Formats: sequence, structure tokens, C-alpha cells
Amino acid sequence: MRLYIDSANLDQIERMNEYYPIAGVTTNPSILVKEKNHYIQALQDIRKIIGEEKELFIQVIADNASEIVKEAEYFQTMIPGKTIIKIPVTEEGIKAIKTLTAKNVPTLATTIYTPFQALIAAKAGAKYVAPYVNRIDDLSGDGIRVVSEIATLFTIHKMSTELLAASFKNVQQVYEACLSGAHTITVAPEIIEKLIDFPATARDVKVFQSQWKETYGNEAGNLLLK
Ligand code: G3P
Repeated sequence: MRLYIDSANLDQIERMNEYYPIAGVTTNPSILVKEKNHYIQALQDIRKIIGEEKELFIQVIADNASEIVKEAEYFQTMIPGKTIIKIPVTEEGIKAIKTLTAKNVPTLATTIYTPFQALIAAKAGAKYVAPYVNRIDDLSGDGIRVVSEIATLFTIHKMSTELLAASFKNVQQVYEACLSGAHTITVAPEIIEKLIDFPATARDVKVFQSQWKETYGNEAGNLLLK
């Protein structure tokens, strides 16, 4: 399972990349417009932070296949390293995924609400598919069930496309997506922090330290504790 940061905020990306086992960064138009820098500058700055080996996902704005392909090629030239082009699963998007796959440009099929959208995108050659878990739940659907059914379809039909679950609003959704066959997940920084946050752990660490200090004072290994 790989973990991606779903954000374009440079401070948060820097911190998450330093502390957590991060495989890359996913962005979308809504995420990029929140930042103060121009989008190309923001994407280049993200690339500087994560380096060229980690994947950076960039979503196209165009809605017809030939323009999607041009936009994808532009992003590939402007942003060095492993850049994956996110393309919404419309008919034009599927056509663009086929064209880009033939040109060896890696794509992620995004804004997925149904298992069949994922299967068709995978057949078109998408390297990843991204079901929108919380947005499906918001429509009275069952986002985790969609993740699980995509995983089943990919196994039955021997698809090598990876399932990158996205759109999470809480830790439970992330956890259930991982249990239901998501190969990878992209999560906002605020939720990544909550993945390991548990009050009893912090409390136990304090108890270990205070018991230790009662016997050994500030000495620990070759360090002096604060
Ligand atoms: O990566 C896709 C994701 O950002 C959509 O998430 O929270 O806007 O539904 P959300």
C-alpha cells in the first residue's frame, strides 16, 4: 500500500514528506487554486520538495481528447520527474487515456463513482483509477463498496491498473478502503496526521519518560533528555 498527500500546500507537503512514508503528491484544480502561487510554480515547488523519484499527479482542465493530450504533454515538459496525468472519466477522457497510453504517458482516471467507470478506464490503459469515496457516500452511495468491487473486477479480469482511493473525510473511510483492496490511497495532511494519532500512545510515552527520569534523571543512552 502506498500513501500519497492530497494537497498542494508547500508547508504541509514539506512536513508530511519529512515525517511520513510518502510515495508522492496528488493535486486537482480545486486543490491548486487554494494556493497563492501560479499553478506551474506551485507544481515545480512541490517537485523540488519531493524530488524526481516520487510521483506527482496533475489534473487536466480541457474536456476534449485532443486538448487533454496537449495539456498532458505540456505538464510532462514543464514538470520534471515522475508526473502522472489525471483525467476525469468522460468519453473524451477515455479517448485521451488511450492516446496517452499509446505514447507511454502514465495516466490516472479520476472522478470515479462506479466500478464500471474504473474497469473501462483500466481497459483504456490507465495506470491508476481513483474512486471518490466520500463523494460517493455524499450521494447516498457506498464508497467503500465501490472500492471493493473495483478491486474484485481488477482481480477477475487480471488488470494491472492500480486502485488509488481518494476523497476521504475521516480515518474510518481510509481504513476501510485499505481493507477493501485499495492498492494506494491519497489523503489530506489533516487526515494523514490522524492515521496514527491515539491519545493512549502519547500518554504511555509520558509515563515511560517520567518513570525513567525518577531512576536515571535526564540521562538516556548518550543523550541528556530535556
Ligand atoms: O484526489 C481527489 C480528491 O482530492 C477529491 O477529494 O475531498 O475534494 O472529495 P474531495
